Amino acid sequence: MKECYLNGDYVDLADAKVSVLDRGFIFGEGIYEVIGVHSRKPFALSLHLERLDLNLSEMGLSNPLSSEAWSSLISNLISRNGCAFGTIYIQITRGKAPRNHEFPKASCPTVFVMISESAAKTELEKVIAITAEDERWRGCHIKTTSLFANTRLRNLATSKGAAEAILQYGGYLTEGASSSVFIVSNDGVIYTSPLDSNILPGITREIVIRLSVSMGVPVIEEKIEISRLRTANEIWLTNTSFGIRCVSRLDEGIVGDGQQYEVAQRFHKQLSIEKGIMP
Ligand code: PDD
Repeated sequence: MKECYLNGDYVDLADAKVSVLDRGFIFGEGIYEVIGVHSRKPFALSLHLERLDLNLSEMGLSNPLSSEAWSSLISNLISRNGCAFGTIYIQITRGKAPRNHEFPKASCPTVFVMISESAAKTELEKVIAITAEDERWRGCHIKTTSLFANTRLRNLATSKGAAEAILQYGGYLTEGASSSVFIVSNDGVIYTSPLDSNILPGITREIVIRLSVSMGVPVIEEKIEISRLRTANEIWLTNTSFGIRCVSRLDEGIVGDGQQYEVAQRFHKQLSIEKGIMP
């Protein structure tokens, strides 16, 4: 049995039900979080809860739970499901209301949390990526459940035998369809797109930037012309689910030498140590 949390109760995932009038179902109006679980512990929980808070205020909702309550809910789900490695998924919508574009005067948010188990990975993975036009709205800093543009772009990548679509807007890199993007130039400098409404403030991105300071190779946040990816030595994708991945082929071109991604290896190792999955 797999248990989830829905509006105050722990229930079997197969039995969890929400109304068809839920604004998350009708309008895709909801926000979400994905939090890594490593050795039965949530990773970077406070950063995820801070982002959740910001997203709730974007929606004009107050946080239904205190940080302490979130923390014990998450610990409960981990132990009730006996999950050692995986991800916690939180989704909050404005709840059920008669269909109307206007926000209801009073709302009772739907709060849903589930856990997915996955194997712990310690190897740095290499994947193929394509570039694509960023066709999303200009509110990408909000972690909204309205993800059709993202899922469409990820599926475009899949249809071309790639794992991710790296997006450009106005000739500049934004991010991946489901990841943040970093590049390492020929002279070893690490760059990533600056935080604005074109990208999600990724938690893994934030942790990589913090690590870069302590590792003495600070990441530069600046607008990156998409053409710079063609000459980069390394291209990284980062997210909560997989940590750091290297792009070995972008469109038709090999990235770097296609084999050794030394800077990524160092960051991948350091991130794994932070997560407690490498000594
Ligand atoms: N997505 N940008 C986008 C568009 C994303 O969907 C994600 C992650 C990220 C990286 O954010 P973080 O480091 O906080 O995971 C950046 C998650 C994993 C998802 O939708 O499942």
